[in-house]
Amino acid sequence: MPTTTLLLDAARAARLNAHAPFSKFKVGAALQTEDGKVITGCNVENATYGLTLCAERVAMFKAISEGHRRFVRVAVVADTEAPTPPCGACRQILWELGGDLEVILGNLVAEKGRYWLRELLPVPFDARLLG
Ligand code: THU
Repeated sequence: MPTTTLLLDAARAARLNAHAPFSKFKVGAALQTEDGKVITGCNVENATYGLTLCAERVAMFKAISEGHRRFVRVAVVADTEAPTPPCGACRQILWELGGDLEVILGNLVAEKGRYWLRELLPVPFDARLLG
């Protein structure tokens, strides 16, 4: 199984591919599957701004498109002292497709915090509520 250090390093490497010409805020994410594979993503911005995809959603959509269905944790990295937690949209997508992941936050040199996704999205709307 990948170590936390390996997962954070995978997110750091993915961050280098970020396409963030508007915000200049580069983010990398690395999602770990139940069987120990690591799928990465970076943020990809767009001139309309609103069509931007965050690193976490890119990683999750890549993973789903490659056939992965069960996930255990995700690392998110930015070049900031304070950690960068997933935005609201990403929390929803990670919850629906990944369940109660462990969310590991870091910067370029250190781990900065750990949460369960249920702590970040405590009253979720999901398919169970569709009846
Ligand atoms: N961003 C992410 O990729 N993930 C986060 O967790 C927070 C924000 C991106 C979106 C946008 O490209 C830039 O960071 C500034 O918001």
